[in-house]
Amino acid sequence: MQDKEKLIVFDTTLRDGEQSPGASMTCDEKVRIAKALEKLQVDVIEAGFPVASQGDFDAVTSVAKTVKDSVVCGLARALDKDIDRASEALKHANASRIHTFIATSPIHMKMKLRMEPDQVVEQAIHSVKRARNYTDNVEFSPEDAGRSDLDFLCQIIEKVIDAGASTINIPDTVGYNVPIQFGHLLKNLIERIPNADKAIFSVHCHNDLGLAVANSLSAVMNGARQVECTINGLGERAGNAALEEVVMAVKTRNDIFPCYTELDTTQIVQCSRLVSGITGFPVQPNKAIVGANAFAHESGIHQDGVLKNRETYEIMRAEDVGWSANRMVLGKHSGRNAFKTRLHELGVTITSEEDLNAAFTRFKDLADKKHEIFDEDLQALVTDSRLAADNECVKLISMKVCSETGETPKAKVVLWVNEKGENEAVCLGSGPVDAAFKAIEEIVKSGAKLLLYSVSNITKGTDSQGDVSVRLERDGKIVNGNGSDTDIVIASAKAYINALNKMVVQADKKHPQGSNV
Ligand code: KIV
Ligand code: ZN
Repeated sequence: MQDKEKLIVFDTTLRDGEQSPGASMTCDEKVRIAKALEKLQVDVIEAGFPVASQGDFDAVTSVAKTVKDSVVCGLARALDKDIDRASEALKHANASRIHTFIATSPIHMKMKLRMEPDQVVEQAIHSVKRARNYTDNVEFSPEDAGRSDLDFLCQIIEKVIDAGASTINIPDTVGYNVPIQFGHLLKNLIERIPNADKAIFSVHCHNDLGLAVANSLSAVMNGARQVECTINGLGERAGNAALEEVVMAVKTRNDIFPCYTELDTTQIVQCSRLVSGITGFPVQPNKAIVGANAFAHESGIHQDGVLKNRETYEIMRAEDVGWSANRMVLGKHSGRNAFKTRLHELGVTITSEEDLNAAFTRFKDLADKKHEIFDEDLQALVTDSRLAADNECVKLISMKVCSETGETPKAKVVLWVNEKGENEAVCLGSGPVDAAFKAIEEIVKSGAKLLLYSVSNITKGTDSQGDVSVRLERDGKIVNGNGSDTDIVIASAKAYINALNKMVVQADKKHPQGSNV
């Protein structure tokens, strides 16, 4: 390892990841993900875009107060008010970074910013200097670098390094680049910029052509020493480079990569599940590293080979990314201590006795319905209860559903709604879930449009809990909701209510890549 250099892993699940339509997270959810990322030992956590909304500001503040071992970063356009706000949100962090950016491609400068290239350079220099008044750790991104002119990039980057930027991030904002060309871009920049040795070069690749990880790795081969990525590849449009794929490629092919990461890769599956559970974005079964089938061997020839020697068909060990460590089973005879210990191992710490008692009661209720409680069940149980605790606006009090051959399904739902108290509605539907959603709407009258409804089983077997994701849209705002229960109609109602609650709490948020004013 001595002759290798460290590759800095910069996670932007909480910022770019949250820009996936519907992936908005509450402050508490962001803090939970940040703790999991800290346990994974990522170097930098981009916690949000503080000027975007009060909610984003509060989330960055909370992450900054909580995380001790990773650098906490806040995004800021190249504007004084953004930089000041980011610095304010980060002021409690153990170690902080301000990440400021401005677009440099001809199309962005002309059509979006309506600025001349010289003005862009001036604004970039000014912003880096302003950020340096608050911290030594300043990152600068020329947005849409992947479509920017090379000479112009060299000019602006040289100047922002002189102004004090210590990390230069090269974003392929629209996922337009291909690996060989993107690698050359990094090589050219590092060779041509006279003060390139004063900064770390980073990359931030989007996945519009499915090349985000390949482009990032090509850049690493050509001198990049920071990769920006997200858990499960979450992010704007087709997403960002998936952290788990970048990190495991560098680890598994350490024979060819000139660098190493310091991540505890055994935490990867845990983080993936947490992010998927919170955002309601399921992980496809054949997804590399974290998909349910990533280490499953279906064909007899493969199974036989693996039994004889694992390396015949496996290039990584499942336990190295955290698969096998997650199989411990609890049941109705498990005590409070085993429950609390397992939750702690899963990264969930319940501090108050009252919360622990409530969680343990829910665990016992579940164990009465379900023989074996797996880690996935525990995570769903805790997620479910936190959702309920976080969002007080609408709560499910009770529901009754009738479903009979030859009869129209009917649902009676009782909800507690802020300022209205308890309300009841009875509705018919084409199925029990449809009837339940109609009854909820009859009470809440949100007018939201259902964009997606999906059910999956959390574990195996018919006694498994159903995990339901619901995506709602209203006035252009999209939110995801999740719910789990051994009864999938109840899980569906919980998911719908969770989405409604998120819709209410989601404040108007600025998009970072909107116009620069
Ligand atoms: O994709 C992008 O260009 C970004 C920047 C803000 C780094 O997310
Ligand atoms: Zn991005």
